[in-house]
Amino acid sequence: MALIAPSFLASNFLRLQEECDMVNNSVADWLHLDVMDGRFVPNISFGLPIIEHIRKATSKPCDVHLMIEEPGKYAQDFKNAGADHLSVHFEACQNLHRNIQQIKSLGMKAGVAINPHTPAHFLVDIIEDVDIVLVMSVNPGFGGQKFIYKTYDKIRALKKLIMETGSQALIEIDGGVDLSNAAELVLAGADVLVAGSSVFKAINPTQAIAQLRLA
Ligand code: DX5
Ligand code: ZN
Repeated sequence: MALIAPSFLASNFLRLQEECDMVNNSVADWLHLDVMDGRFVPNISFGLPIIEHIRKATSKPCDVHLMIEEPGKYAQDFKNAGADHLSVHFEACQNLHRNIQQIKSLGMKAGVAINPHTPAHFLVDIIEDVDIVLVMSVNPGFGGQKFIYKTYDKIRALKKLIMETGSQALIEIDGGVDLSNAAELVLAGADVLVAGSSVFKAINPTQAIAQLRLA
């Protein structure tokens, strides 16, 4: 069993209140909110004002995934908007240790996100400092992409690193997660599953969340 974080990138932006109500009334654990700047990734999603509104419409933790360059410039703003968790990309941070400490000092849980080409062992010197490792199982930037199979090996390697170092980090998987791979991801060591399309595009999103949670 893993925690489930529906990704609002796949939600209906004209009906955010209803989408929040659906998640509030489901067994979902976190709300996953993707911020893209059109520079770190080739897409632009939504930003601070939307997160501020979503924050007011839920009491569940807001898990903010920053796919932006220079995330340190905006950490305080995301805290003010109501982020509970803030994940920054390994590939976007020249001073990752500083970024992680900044997020924690602002009172948020700190996550490091890694792209499909970044191996687990690159995190050896940061793993003890982070609360979350967000493993991208697709290339960041878009919802609805195909799950990258190699992710299973990466989860196992990360789990090993976490055990060896005594880190408390949760392993969160993001991209192409659905009922066909959820159980295997949990078996490999995933603690949190992000799901966009497989939840919001489902005929019954509440049920989709419940089924993923049982996987
Ligand atoms: C992609 C985002 C994901 C996205 C996942 O860059 O980080 O959170 O919403 O969407 P699905 O579940 O549709 O692959
Ligand atoms: Zn994401």
